[in-house]
Amino acid sequence: MNLFRSIRTTPLLLRLLNNQKRLMSISAQSIPKTQSVIFYEKNGGPEVLQYSTNYPTPQISDSQILVKNHYAGINYIETYFRKGIYKSNFPYIPGREASGEIVAIGSNVNNFKIGDKIAYLGGENFAQFTKLDSNKVSIINLGQNANDNQLKLYSASLLQGLTALTFINEAYNVQKDDFILVTAAAGGVGLILDQLISKVKKAHVIAVASSDEKLQLAKNNGAEFLLNSSKLSYDQIADEILRITNGKGVHAVFDSIGKDTIDLDLKVIRRKGTIVSYGNASGPIDSFSLGLLSPKNVRLLRPQLFGYITEPEEFQHYTKQLFNLIDSGELHIEIFKVYPLKDYKIATEEMESRKTTGKLLLQIP
Ligand SMILES: NC(=O)c1ccc[n+]([C@@H]2O[C@H](COP(=O)([O-])OP(=O)(O)OC[C@H]3O[C@@H](n4cnc5c(N)ncnc54)[C@H](OP(=O)(O)O)[C@@H]3O)[C@@H](O)[C@H]2O)c1
Repeated sequence: MNLFRSIRTTPLLLRLLNNQKRLMSISAQSIPKTQSVIFYEKNGGPEVLQYSTNYPTPQISDSQILVKNHYAGINYIETYFRKGIYKSNFPYIPGREASGEIVAIGSNVNNFKIGDKIAYLGGENFAQFTKLDSNKVSIINLGQNANDNQLKLYSASLLQGLTALTFINEAYNVQKDDFILVTAAAGGVGLILDQLISKVKKAHVIAVASSDEKLQLAKNNGAEFLLNSSKLSYDQIADEILRITNGKGVHAVFDSIGKDTIDLDLKVIRRKGTIVSYGNASGPIDSFSLGLLSPKNVRLLRPQLFGYITEPEEFQHYTKQLFNLIDSGELHIEIFKVYPLKDYKIATEEMESRKTTGKLLLQIP
């Protein structure tokens, strides 16, 4: 830096020096030119997923940071991008949440230091290295001393935890003693919804899942009424829910299954109730007649997490609340399995065939 100050500069020299400075970044270690990643070049099933140990490492600009990822969270949304339900550019590196250590910073970055551990929401982290804008809203600086367990827990809880927390407050503000239907109640988001709705909001959870083992797990996490979708048809499930609620129906539905369950939702929602349809596990709902909402004056939402945490204050408010719940032991994050990065294909095959519960994580080499 002193070098830049001490030289008497001409305008041309100044421009050259500025360019030079812009290209400089500071790194803790020599960053390899290539890295290991999961990527794909066309839409399709898990077979399109590729693992490379020789993929270019991203280069950072003067306002960016480079993270060496330690853990990345697996979320069902990756399957929608891979299948083409949501659009992506190719080659595409999946991943929406991770934790790791900053190993390089651009020359204009002054809000992070090399060695800081971070957890963050953002793309392209089924990879050893990810570049991020240093002013990105959804980065949490965990400081230099965060340990491996903390990195694991934060990457396991951020996306699904914030989804559950924002939805039960903003999509429908769950009230004490409400009856709430939760589908995929033993999944990643599902287990967090079970706990927050029952323990924090003190409402009744009616859980739907596809096996008795999954329902037992939902029960351990606060679900009160258990309905097995492998043993009961959705019509029978609707009858059971109406029986449980004395014919009135539920105050709200949190439904991540989509196409297969929208009819169930309409049958069991009570007058003036709220259907929160937030996922497509069985496929997207392509057409919907608004008139179906009229008989019971139903509210229908199709929210996405990022619409509730766009502003820095919103992100900070909910992450603080989430981490307080985790730190106080009120919210338990159930980690199903930690897979090595190279085994993401196996992990998503297990998830897509409904064999998993709770959170799936990738450990990044
Ligand atoms: N809108 C948002 O911002 C947002 C944010 C986060 C997550 N989500 C959505 O929330 C849902 C849960 O995400 P997650 O990551 O926690 O996944 P997950 O619930 O752990 O896994 C998906 C579950 O969906 C259920 N499912 C029902 N029908 C299915 C089908 N036809 N094929 C496959 N699975 C089916 C399965 O549970 P059963 O076998 O018990 O039915 C399966 O375990 C996903 O739909 C995801 O897209 C939305």
